[in-house]
Amino acid sequence: MTEPLLAYLNGEYLPGDRACLPITDRGLLFGDSVYEVVPAYGGLPFRVAHHLKRLDRSLAAIGMHNPLSHEQWRAVFERLAQQLPGQDQSIYLQVTRGAYPVRNHVIPATVAPNVFAFTMANPPRDQAAAARGISAITLDDIRWHRCDIKATTLLANVLARARASDEDVDDAILVRDGTAMEGTASNLFIVHDGLLITPPEGTELLSGITRDLVLELAQEAGVPYAQASIGSDELEQADEIWLTSSTREIAAVVQLNGRQVGAGVPGPLWHRMDALFQACKVRLRQGEECHDD
Ligand code: PDD
Repeated sequence: MTEPLLAYLNGEYLPGDRACLPITDRGLLFGDSVYEVVPAYGGLPFRVAHHLKRLDRSLAAIGMHNPLSHEQWRAVFERLAQQLPGQDQSIYLQVTRGAYPVRNHVIPATVAPNVFAFTMANPPRDQAAAARGISAITLDDIRWHRCDIKATTLLANVLARARASDEDVDDAILVRDGTAMEGTASNLFIVHDGLLITPPEGTELLSGITRDLVLELAQEAGVPYAQASIGSDELEQADEIWLTSSTREIAAVVQLNGRQVGAGVPGPLWHRMDALFQACKVRLRQGEECHDD
C-alpha cells in the first residue's frame, strides 16, 4: 500500500490519515471556517498571490486574521506540492475559527484557529474531453447571500451537484430570481454576439481567481467583454456558455437543460480563450508567473 501524503496541520507535517481535529472544532459544528483551492500545474502552485488575497478577504469577512503570513503559506504549498513532483494537483487549505469546549453560537473571545492543508493529484488534462464540453441544468440558487466568502458551508452546492448527477449531467448553473449567478463550484461566462459576459462581482457569487484570469486574458487579447447580469433567457439563448474554476479551468457547456448550446460543441471563443489559458500554464512551467501580482 502506498504511504499517505503528508498534510499540514497547525505548523506540523504529518501523514494525511493522522491529521485530526477535535470534534468541538467550530468548522465542524457551525461551518465557521473558510477555505481555498489552489491549483498546481506540473507541481507548481498557480496564481498564489490571488488565492492568498482572497483568503485574507474571506477571513476579514468573518472577523478573523490570517494565522499565517503569505510567505508561510507559500512554503506550505511548496512543501505539499513537492510530494507529487511534476504533477497537476489541487492544494486544499482550510482555516477554522478553532475548537472550543462549549458548543455555543456565540464566537468565543479567545479561541485559537485550526489551520490545515493537503494536496490531491489531478489526472493530466484530457484535451479531447475538454473539446467535447460538458452538460448542465439550471437550478434555483438556494444559497445564502454572502457567496463572496469562500466558506466551507457548501451543503446547497453539494445538493445542487447531486441533483445534476441524478439528472445525468455534469453540473448545475444556479439561478437567483431569474438571474444566472454561477456554477455549483465555478463561475459563469456566456458569449452573446461576440461579447463575452460574466456576472459582476458582489455578495451573490464568488470572485473566482480563474474568472479574473479569463477577464485579464480577454482584455489583453482585445476580446470585448462585459461584467453584467445574465438573465435566464439570455443564458438559454447564449452562443457559448463556460464554467471556470481552479479545478475545471475553462469548461464549455454544450448542452443546457437538454438543449444544445450554439452548435452543440465548444465555440470559437472558447477555443481561443482555452488556448490562452493553456499558454499561461506553459509559462508557469517555464518559471514565469502568469498574471499573479
Ligand atoms: N471552487 N464559485 C464557486 C461557488 C466556487 O466554489 C468556485 C471554486 C468558483 C471558482 O473559483 P476559482 O476560479 O477561484 O477556483 C466559483 C473550488 C474549486 C472548490 O470548491 O473546489
